[in-house]
Amino acid sequence: MELDAKICYCFHITRRKLVNFVRQTEPRVPSQLSQCGGAGTGCGWCIPFLKQIFHEGGTGEASVNDLTPEEYARRRAEYIRAGKGAPPPGATPLPDVDKPAP
Ligand code: FES
Repeated sequence: MELDAKICYCFHITRRKLVNFVRQTEPRVPSQLSQCGGAGTGCGWCIPFLKQIFHEGGTGEASVNDLTPEEYARRRAEYIRAGKGAPPPGATPLPDVDKPAP
């Protein structure tokens, strides 16, 4: 995903913002990325990706590169619909479920 792609849909945090946060603040543990606008403190979907960004050290290179923004959003929706996390009020809404053809 590109730097301007949203990583935390609950708090609308882009990858660029997270990468810059890591570069500028040099957090010691991945959980400190929550200090970047609350990233990861909503439904919890983005936490594995926050950890990737943390381990990149702010280089902006990670396996998150392998996902399109659409695929990322779809996987988050699956995660939430499976009951693994609940987005806070104001979070980016889930994409519509595919409807069967009439
Ligand atoms: S997408 Fe980041 S906490 Fe929900």
